[in-house]
Amino acid sequence: MPTPLRVAIAGTGFIGRVHARSALLAGATVVGVAASSPDRAEAAAKDLGVERAFASADELVRADDVDVIHICTPNHLHFDLALAALDAGKHVICEKPLATQRADAERLVRAAKAAGKVASVPFVYRYYPTVREARARVEADDIGDVRLIHGAYLQDWLLDPEDGNWRVDEALGGASRAFADIGSHWCDLIEFVTNDRIRRVTAKLLTAVPERFVGEHQDAFSGSKGAEKISVTTEDAAVVMFETRGGAIGSTVISQISAGRKNQLRFEIDGSKAALAFDQEAPETLWIGRREGPIVLPRAPELLSKGAATYATLPGGHPQGYHDCFDAFVNDTYEAIHNGVPDGLPVFTDGLRAAAITEAVLTSAREGRPVDLEG
Ligand SMILES: NC(=O)c1ccc[n+]([C@@H]2O[C@H](COP(=O)([O-])OP(=O)(O)OC[C@H]3O[C@@H](n4cnc5c(N)ncnc54)[C@H](O)[C@@H]3O)[C@@H](O)[C@H]2O)c1
Repeated sequence: MPTPLRVAIAGTGFIGRVHARSALLAGATVVGVAASSPDRAEAAAKDLGVERAFASADELVRADDVDVIHICTPNHLHFDLALAALDAGKHVICEKPLATQRADAERLVRAAKAAGKVASVPFVYRYYPTVREARARVEADDIGDVRLIHGAYLQDWLLDPEDGNWRVDEALGGASRAFADIGSHWCDLIEFVTNDRIRRVTAKLLTAVPERFVGEHQDAFSGSKGAEKISVTTEDAAVVMFETRGGAIGSTVISQISAGRKNQLRFEIDGSKAALAFDQEAPETLWIGRREGPIVLPRAPELLSKGAATYATLPGGHPQGYHDCFDAFVNDTYEAIHNGVPDGLPVFTDGLRAAAITEAVLTSAREGRPVDLEG
C-alpha cells in the first residue's frame, strides 16, 4: 500500500466540497483547506472535519507537508495558484477554466511539463461509463464517418437579475462566462468522444440580463440574493456553429438562463452508419440511433466495452451519477501520480485547448466572422 497522498483544497464552495469528498474516497488525507478569509476557512474546515484551516490559498499551495493541491477558487486565481503550486513541487488539480487568458494557460502547460508533475483539469463528464462507451463505439467505427455533432449545455441558475455569483463579474470570472464555464465542458466532451478537433467556430453571444445583484459571499447555486448591483459584460448564452478537422459540422447552444434546465449537457453525433446521443441528466443510458430503430443501451457493466466497464462501479439498475464521475477523475489523477497517466485523464493541455476555443468564440462573436483554431 502506498502512503496516503496528502492533499489540500483551496476554495470550499460548491465544487471544493465535491473535491474533498472524492479525495477522501480515493484514500487521500485532506490536510487542510483555504477559503476567501481565515474565518471562512475555519468554518469550512470544521464543517468538513479537516484539521487545518490555512490563512490563505497562497500559504496552502506552498505548504511543506502537502503532495497535491486542488484549486477550486474563482477563476481569476487559478493561474497564480497553479503556477505557485507547481513551483513548490506539487501535483495540481486545477478547476476549469485553467486560466482566464489563453497565454496564461499556455504558461501553465509549460510549467507543468517542466515540473514533471501530474496536472489535471476536472472535465469530469468524461467519466460517465456511457460517455466512454460512446467514445469506444466511435473508435470502433460502429457509427461510420462522423457527419454532424450537435447539442447543448443548458442551466437556469442565472435566469433572474437577482441571481448573482462572482462568475458574473468579469474581473473574477474572465471575459467569457457561460461559454468558458460550461461550453468548455461541452467542447471537451465532443472532442474526447469523437477524437476529432473543432477547427473553425462562428459564434453569437447574448447578454440577456445587463445588470445583476452580486453579493460578496455568494457561492454557486446558493440561490442567495446579492447586495450590489453591477453591470454585466459577460454572456448569459452562446450559440456556436463549428467545423471539425475530420470534416463534420455542428452546433451547440450554451445557456445559464434556460428556465427549468438545471444541468442539461447533451450531445448527439450523427455518423454515416448510426448515431449516438448522451444526456448528462439521464446518464444511465446511451441512445444508439439506427435506421431500423433506435436502441437504448443501459449502463450495465456486462453490456459495455472494456474501457467503459472500468468506470461502471455498480451493477446495472443501481444508478451512478455526477459524484461517481468526480470520484473516478480524482482517483485517476492520484493513480497517475503513482502508476502513470490512465487513458482519458483530462490534463493541462486539455485546459489550454478549452481556453483556445473560448478565445476563438469571443473573437468570432466580437468581430462577426468565423475564426480558425490552430492545433
Ligand atoms: N469541473 C466542474 O464540473 C466544475 C463544477 C463547478 C465549478 N467548477 C469550477 O470550480 C471553481 C469554483 O466554482 P464553485 O462553483 O465551487 O464556486 P463557489 O462560488 O461555490 O465557491 C468558490 C469558493 O472559493 C472561495 N474563495 C474565494 N476567494 C478565495 C481566495 N482568495 N482564496 C481561497 N478561496 C477563495 C470562496 O470562499 C468559495 O467558497 C470555478 O473555477 C468553476 O469554474 C467546476
